[in-house]
Amino acid sequence: MDQVTQAAINSDRQWRWLMELAEFGAIPDNGVNRQALTALDRAARRQLIEWASEIGATVSIDEAANLWLRVEGSDPTAAPVLTGSHMDSQPKGGRFDGAYGVIAGLEAITAMHQAGIVTKRPIEVVAWTNEEGSRFAPGCTGSMSWCGFKPVHEWDDVKDADGIFYGAALATQLGFESDIPRRPLGGPVHAYVEAHIEQGPLLESEGLDIGVVTGIQGSRWFTVTIEGESAHAGTAPLSLRRDAMLDAVRAIQALSDAMADPDDVLRFTVGRIAVSPNSSNSVADRVTFSIDLRHPNADILTARGALIPSVIQSAMTVCDARLVENFTAMPTDFHPLVIAAVEHAAKATGHSIKHMASGAFHDAQFASRVAPAGMIFVPSHKGISHNPAEYTSPAQLAAGTQVLMHTLLRLANS
Ligand code: GLV
Ligand code: MN
Ligand code: MN
Repeated sequence: MDQVTQAAINSDRQWRWLMELAEFGAIPDNGVNRQALTALDRAARRQLIEWASEIGATVSIDEAANLWLRVEGSDPTAAPVLTGSHMDSQPKGGRFDGAYGVIAGLEAITAMHQAGIVTKRPIEVVAWTNEEGSRFAPGCTGSMSWCGFKPVHEWDDVKDADGIFYGAALATQLGFESDIPRRPLGGPVHAYVEAHIEQGPLLESEGLDIGVVTGIQGSRWFTVTIEGESAHAGTAPLSLRRDAMLDAVRAIQALSDAMADPDDVLRFTVGRIAVSPNSSNSVADRVTFSIDLRHPNADILTARGALIPSVIQSAMTVCDARLVENFTAMPTDFHPLVIAAVEHAAKATGHSIKHMASGAFHDAQFASRVAPAGMIFVPSHKGISHNPAEYTSPAQLAAGTQVLMHTLLRLANS
């Protein structure tokens, strides 16, 4: 029997692990709120380590608090094959975004271990730090640091909603996990493959099992701050006000108009807004809002992004505006080596496939800067994600993990 037929994914175990992980930060309606670098995040990571210890995986963390589980290969000099995803969630997130890719990696190495398979190359499962960027913007800070795109301390001064700095939260996490051996950032990597739910409707609507992901569209995040002046809501005449709220509303409307796309490919989102002093009877002196802009074409993403400062400026009547770009992930094409390995694995295991690009960003976008990278998608029910209703059936998840395991076997034996 060859290695492809020896090892079997245990769908029940994988589902049980996913459901147990979802208890860390469980919210109503099957949702999860597990923010990066919190006690909940740390508890979930300890649980993962406990499961990984059952197969003797070596555990380590790096300076960005990315968590690594490693199984050795037969060739101690060979560069590893990496898989994994993230364990932090959106504030109103589901059970599968990120968690699936980490658990799928653990399930794949566990199934291989139980079948007595030792690949030539080591295999490492990584849980990246702060992929979502919902507590500390931007996302993907762990993978950006690991691949050398940004220094680890780039975001030290970024604050969460409670005023806690990223740098302090990272130091706290590293302190709580000081018993876990440290490893350096980066290092030689043979290939990276990440399993993830699709987060869109295509696979389900076309009745297909597996997305062979060919690349990821580009994303840019901006923070806009509108400064006005606070005043009494009952006494200050409108003509004398510098109302940051009204100028922010004008700016958001003008941006939405400027970002209109008849082809409905450009994605423009204002998902976060903070108002100071946030009181019904005070005129707002400051409004801060986020912009998330995405497009698969780098030139279009650059050109549309370049419009943002002037659109905001023209919308100001009485206030001042500041704009900061805090995340730039240009469109990424995945590597033919990994795309072919995923395609081969899906076909070998009898699954139907669709070649597709990802609308969501992922840590694979940054891993691809230093290693051949690719991704495997499984269907998302009704395409729902970043929502407690996110759902993929145990069988669909197991199919994705079967494809992941066969992809890992192929890459780790080459
Ligand atoms: C990742 O969560 C994204 O926003 O694409
Ligand atoms: Mn994700
Ligand atoms: Mn997400």
